[in-house]
Parts: sequence; structure tokens; C-alpha cells
Amino acid sequence: MDAPPTTTGTQPRGLQPETMAGASNESIELPMDQREVVFDCRELGVRYAGVRALRDVDLNIHRNTVTALIGPSGCGKSTFLRCLNRMNDLIPSAVVDGACLYHDEDLYGPQIDAIEVRKRIGMVFQKPNPFPKSIYDNVAFGPRVLGMKDGLDDRIEQALRRAALWDEVKDRLRQGALGLSGGQQQRLCIARALAVEPDVILMDEPCSALDPISTAAIEDLMTDLKSEYTVVIVTHNMQQAARVADMTAFFSVDQGETGTRCGVLIEVDSTEKIFTKPSNERTEAYVTGRFG
Ligand SMILES: Nc1ncnc2c1ncn2[C@@H]1O[C@H](COP(=O)(O)OP(=O)(O)OP(=O)(O)O)[C@@H](O)[C@H]1O
Ligand SMILES: [Mg+2]
Repeated sequence: MDAPPTTTGTQPRGLQPETMAGASNESIELPMDQREVVFDCRELGVRYAGVRALRDVDLNIHRNTVTALIGPSGCGKSTFLRCLNRMNDLIPSAVVDGACLYHDEDLYGPQIDAIEVRKRIGMVFQKPNPFPKSIYDNVAFGPRVLGMKDGLDDRIEQALRRAALWDEVKDRLRQGALGLSGGQQQRLCIARALAVEPDVILMDEPCSALDPISTAAIEDLMTDLKSEYTVVIVTHNMQQAARVADMTAFFSVDQGETGTRCGVLIEVDSTEKIFTKPSNERTEAYVTGRFG
């Protein structure tokens, strides 16, 4: 095995190395609300072409937890998730306001390099998007770009093992990734995200195109990953949120008098509380299926 990779060369400029991945994960021993705060969002909002899509999100996301984002279509779950790794920067009409602190540093500060941020905060999308390359080259892509070339074979094996895919692909690493099943492709995308040793994994409806067996494999994986990472997942599947998430945030849409619609965070709490005894009646209506 290689020595554990250092974060040197991969940390975003302006972010302190001691606060990044590789820090101890002692926090998993602590109650959820005492675990280290990874993201501290304050009055976070987004407008697209001047139209407000999300406003005033105050939300902490803790280390070594799985946080689920739930809520009706259009309430801003994906918009919020993209704020956490500056993916909204890639949408020219999007403007983010409020603050998003990542390990106490302003993720949107002038000294922060958004590309580096996305290497520390990986993202997995709804539709698996492997590159038209071999399985090996897909997972090697990030490490190669980052110059993490030592012990590449071991790194790839570890990433594929962590993504629960190694046994299925170890004899066909040089074959094309597009020949894998949808569930395998999604686990490959997770391995690709893990190969650069990120701090956080964001997943936007990662199982919505998958069969129940692949979904179960990815849910098991999320539970395993939280011992080392911080995981944030968007899901429309309430059972999935109940199964995998420690914390759940419920978003909804507020309708203005002029018919404008804007996403808001209604409530965040332990998943158990959200599903059994939520504080807000809108959350209760949603989780009991009385509001879509
Ligand atoms: N690129 C964009 N340009 C303009 N408006 C957008 C853009 N992306 C999202 N929106 C708008 O922002 C609002 C929130 O959308 P978002 O995709 O974040 O919702 P969501 O909760 O993820 O919905 P879903 O559950 O359907 O995926 C919607 O009104 C949507 O139309
Ligand atoms: Mg979405």
C-alpha cells in the first residue's frame, strides 16, 4: 500500500490543509450535532437571471454524517447542492448570495479557486456519466490530472473497492466503461469521485435510474462512506432518506402574492424526528404524503 496521500497540491488555495480530508474522523464518535461543522450556510440564496429560486437557507452540515435533502420538485434541492461545490458558477445566469462557510472559510471568498474546491467536494449526478474510456482510465482520471501518479494501481483498486465495484470489474479494468450496467456505471462514478480522496461527496438523486439491487448497493455504500467522508444526498425516495440519512432537511416552495415561487428550507433535524415528529406542519404534510 502507498503511504496515505497528503492533501498538498490538491487543497483549494486559501483553504487550510489541517481542516481538509485526512483529518481524524474522531467526530463519528460524537452525537451528530456535536460533530465538526463542514458547511455552515447562512442566508444562502440563488437567483437565476434575476429570478429568485432559493432564499435564506440557514443550514449546518456535519462531518461523518449523511444528510438528505428532500422536498417537492422545483424547491431548490439541486440548486442548494450545487452551492456546496460552486457548481452554480458554471451556470452563467446563477448568482449566489448569503454565505457558505466550508471548514470556517468562505467558499465564495476571492482567494478560493472554484476548480480546486470541486476536487475536494466531489459530485455524483442522477444519470451516470462515465467517460468513454476504460474502467481504469475513468477512475485514474482525477488522480492523473492532480499529479497523484505514485501507486496509481493501488489507488484505483482502493477506490473501486470502496465503491463496492472491485469484484465485478477487476478482470476487465481495460474494457470500456460504457459496457457496464447502469448500476455499475453509477458505482464507477462514485469510485471516480473517491479516487482523489475528497472531503465531501454530494449526490443528486444517485439512484433514481437504478434497479432495487443497484440501489441497495449504493445505499449500503453511503452508510460505509460516512465513516470517512461527509455525504449529502438529494432524494425523492422517502424510504431511502429514512434508511440512509442521519439528518434530513426538508425544502419547499413559497408562493408570493404575485405568483412568484421560491425555494425555502422549512426544517432540518435528525431523520427520525423529521419522519416521526416534525416541528413544522408543512414537513408533516409532505412526509405523510398529503402534499406533493
Ligand atoms: N439553470 C437554471 N436556469 C434557470 N432556472 C433554473 C435553473 N436551474 C434551476 N432553475 C429553477 O430553480 C428552481 C429550483 O430548481 P432545482 O432544480 O434546484 O429544484 P429541485 O428541488 O432540484 O427539483 P427536482 O426535484 O425536480 O430535481 C426551479 O424553479 C427551476 O426552474
Ligand atoms: Mg433536482
